[in-house]
Amino acid sequence: MNQSPPVSVRAQSGVAVITIDAPPVNALSDAVRRGLVDAFMQADRDDAVTAIVLTGAGDSFVAGADLREMALPPQSPSLPDVMLAMEACAKPIVAAINGAALGGGLELALACDLRIAGPRAALGLPETKLGMVPGSGGTQRLPRLVGSAKAIEMIGQAKIVKAQEALALGVVDQVAEDPLTVAIAAATTTRKRRVSRMVVQAADAEQITKAADGAIRRARGNTAVASAIELVRDAARLPFDEAVAKERAEFLRLRESEESKALRHLFFAEREAGKGASDAKPRDIRSVAVIGGGLMGAGIASCFADAGFPVSLIERDADAAAAAGERIAGIYDAQLRSGRLDDAGAREKRERVTASDDWTRVADAQLVVEAVFEDMALKQEVFRRIDTLAAPGTILATNTSYLDIDAIAAVTGRPQDVIGLHFFSPANVMRLLEVVRADKTAPDALATAFRIGRRIGKLPIIAGVCDGFIGNRIFSLFRREAEYLVEEGATPERIDRALERYGLAMGPFAVADLAGLDIAWATRKRREAANPGSERPLPISDKLCELGRFGRKAGRGWYLYRDGAPKPSVDPEVGDIVAAVRAAKGIAARTFTDAEIVQRMLGVMASEGKKVLAEGIAQRASDIDLVFVNGYGFPAVKGGPMYGAARGFP
Ligand code: NAI
Repeated sequence: MNQSPPVSVRAQSGVAVITIDAPPVNALSDAVRRGLVDAFMQADRDDAVTAIVLTGAGDSFVAGADLREMALPPQSPSLPDVMLAMEACAKPIVAAINGAALGGGLELALACDLRIAGPRAALGLPETKLGMVPGSGGTQRLPRLVGSAKAIEMIGQAKIVKAQEALALGVVDQVAEDPLTVAIAAATTTRKRRVSRMVVQAADAEQITKAADGAIRRARGNTAVASAIELVRDAARLPFDEAVAKERAEFLRLRESEESKALRHLFFAEREAGKGASDAKPRDIRSVAVIGGGLMGAGIASCFADAGFPVSLIERDADAAAAAGERIAGIYDAQLRSGRLDDAGAREKRERVTASDDWTRVADAQLVVEAVFEDMALKQEVFRRIDTLAAPGTILATNTSYLDIDAIAAVTGRPQDVIGLHFFSPANVMRLLEVVRADKTAPDALATAFRIGRRIGKLPIIAGVCDGFIGNRIFSLFRREAEYLVEEGATPERIDRALERYGLAMGPFAVADLAGLDIAWATRKRREAANPGSERPLPISDKLCELGRFGRKAGRGWYLYRDGAPKPSVDPEVGDIVAAVRAAKGIAARTFTDAEIVQRMLGVMASEGKKVLAEGIAQRASDIDLVFVNGYGFPAVKGGPMYGAARGFP
């Protein structure tokens, strides 16, 4: 425990240096806020002090509010009380932003008269990500420095900017290698310059609308984004004090909202998941080989290339290698077109990937990721071959969606090095990564896979071996349940609409059409052959497939996809098939409310989730929530199926 006070003051040539020292990230706890009010008042009274510098100890300036206190009633002094003390202070206050200045941390810096950022500073107001708005002047001071459009973009999209960008935007006044020394020197010459007294620059209405639309588009039911936009707009039309009072009221209202509680649950869930599952020392990974350069393999290769790793993308023959190379080029061309990368950036990343049919390249990699067709015999053959080529200690990973990784590991002479790395499509976009621990996976192999997942910007979640791991296992029951509901009387479009209204990116039938009905059909036939009578049949899906209605790619599936029509339409032929199945089963169709549909569909997920937990396939319920929010388009504002089930899916 840190026994020293969290806020200290020391004098240096007439400057009072106030340091926040509250490890690990200098969060604004009760004690810190109290310490700050005392320190500012004391420095203001002290005649020997002419100016003040505010900084953080360690790697952070102030990383934000103390989220654990969010669940409790607000305590005095509040952060606005700290701001009042700063505004009342007659002496100039300079922020030496040594590291992360996030949320309330940036609000503190904005209440200073001058801001000097160090090279490691990261600045942002990410409150909307937690379903809240800044509550201590952030929505009012930021637009005074950067303009309304930029403030809407930063706050509405919870953007975090680095020092140089912050300087270009006007969030900070200077970037310096040693911000504290520069701040102390600047404090003695600068004048009082309260941001609250500045006026918001007149702005281009079109820019503001564009920024607002961009933020709303990404909000996905998170109403805090619209609130934040309104508050920023207020900065240009209301007096500062009035707008700040309004902002505070909105902050206090939103922190009690169901959305914010759900988003905070996910925030803590990520923190827990980030602890990993093994204390073993990870192995060193310097280069990567990916076997199979199809849809997933190419995406996976680009994930590693983006993070700076040289990648060998290995295919079965020269033609397939050329096609894999084209896919890589396609990924970077798309990023070039969308403006996410410039020419040089796209070329640099693309050149990190070498597509070939030269398997000897496996020997140079410390991590091999297999992404060939989903076929056990083929995967085993590939792993036998990798086993003869890879250097000792190489991590051998499979991207299989459903297959038994223990059976894959068993064909190698090194099952301790075999693991599942299950990416989601599109692999270079989706954050979720299931790290599947097989029976014999060594602790340091698990630790390596977990760490590399984080290195490439993914959210790794540890899973155990079973049919479909955490996500696909639960999701396949969800899809089945949708069809059972159709048998009982709901229409596919009604089910999709109910779940989309709940917040899912796409309903299950729209997803099935997109993914293709034929794959699930083949899986059902395989399972039925292996284990007759083990699963309730899906006669409607079977009939659709027998008619060649494989989904979007066939122009027809659960829906009809007319040439050029922007949206799928309802097809009477599907209605006839459904009616015939109901008649054959003697089912009298009944109606369902949206709420019933949501309860049934998500209830099935939650009950399978409990089994997944009991079997040790998932480590904690919150991991299951993260899987569905980050891999399956589940709405973050609902907190995930396990969180939702515990609250009756409001
Ligand atoms: P795909 O059909 O697009 O690509 C497979 C690639 O493997 C092809 O390019 C093929 O030429 C290559 N290949 C086949 N045999 C090979 C061999 N002996 N040596 C080298 N390369 C060989 O398939 P996709 O969709 O990329 O799936 C690959 C794996 O990823 C499967 O296990 C699948 O279950 C899994 N997966 C797929 C997801 C998806 O959404 N498509 C999502 C997550 C996992």
